[in-house]
Amino acid sequence: MSPDFIPLSVPVLAGNEWTYVRECLDTGWVSSAGPFVTRFETELAGATGAAHAVACTSGTAALHVSLRLAGVGRGDLVLAPTVTFVAPINAIRYLGADPVFFDCDRHYNLDPEPLRQFLDAETEQREGSLHDRSTGRRIGALLTVAVFGHAGDWQDLYASCRERGLAVVEDATEALGTRYTSGGWSGRHAGTNSEFGCFSFNGNKIITTGGGGAIVTDRADHAGRARYLTQQAKDDPIAFRHDEVGYNYRLTNLAAALGVGQLELLEHFVARKRANLARYGERLAHLPWCELAPAPPYARNNHWMYPLYLRDGKWRGRARELVAALGAEGIETRPLWMLNHLQRPYRGCRVVGDRRARDLVANTVNLPCSVDLTPAAVDRVCEVLAHV
Ligand SMILES: Cc1ncc(COP(=O)(O)O)c(C=O)c1O
Repeated sequence: MSPDFIPLSVPVLAGNEWTYVRECLDTGWVSSAGPFVTRFETELAGATGAAHAVACTSGTAALHVSLRLAGVGRGDLVLAPTVTFVAPINAIRYLGADPVFFDCDRHYNLDPEPLRQFLDAETEQREGSLHDRSTGRRIGALLTVAVFGHAGDWQDLYASCRERGLAVVEDATEALGTRYTSGGWSGRHAGTNSEFGCFSFNGNKIITTGGGGAIVTDRADHAGRARYLTQQAKDDPIAFRHDEVGYNYRLTNLAAALGVGQLELLEHFVARKRANLARYGERLAHLPWCELAPAPPYARNNHWMYPLYLRDGKWRGRARELVAALGAEGIETRPLWMLNHLQRPYRGCRVVGDRRARDLVANTVNLPCSVDLTPAAVDRVCEVLAHV
């Protein structure tokens, strides 16, 4: 790899990670029991303002368990965004349910307006739960995703769900460190405004445990059930009695040790992300054909990713080609994910709208955003963009 190569996003292990991991190795606590797992849970709950956190092996595992605890079951529908990485959509399928896909807003997040219209016009209460009027199928949950760390505009939507008894699961995987600064959720963190919030700590997230995830919730009963299901549903650990089908989803102490070290750096990481974004903004301001995607004004976003929108000019509609052109210059960027309703396993699922999603897919390129990106690297990306 050329020394000038600028990656999209790499982890930065700059704090106490070595010390904590060495402590696991020195004491032999390397597996899913050990003090760092509970310490990571306590500190994550503190960092997000949630009452409880349950550490899992991955964000996908956290989503799987949360959707199950929300009551999603075989044959149900789950209302979900088409713009997201595929993991949360797969978690719906793990439970034998099907997504109904909705379009996004200008911040890449699930657009609340078509959802509200759908709830008003196309659903009805029957036998104590919500059903899709046209197919008669039960609606098990709403699943939202805070895309690229952007806080969602979902306060009224969640209230409508609550009125209808519809559970909400928030995939805040990309939004650790994002918090609302105005409106009714002011002061609250992404992932803490419904029954379940899910996070991932894989290698490209704002903090990493190597691989890992967590569920946050304010309800002690949900946290207890999540802990039970993620540890093989042990009803009697001596007699090995299991009254339900559980999962081997508990985070290891080794991974949690890494996580504790990384969590200590979270605020510093958010500050770095924001400073680099500001520099991109200054350096790109003179290019009329592109703009940094606007962040929601009602939140302090973590700016996990830096989506660049191609609004005009020769790259309009050609995000993937621009990714290739920048790659040839040693700059790693990524387009948006392929829309989920176009993915093979989900092609038969209902799509309520995708107009904005299609536009954003064709016209978004995510710029290098590692926490340790230097000002010189930002300048180089911007210079290449100016001439590419
Ligand atoms: C929105 C979203 N949800 C879920 C996941 C899955 O998390 P994990 O890789 O930890 O399973 C990711 C990324 O990895 C993601 O971006």
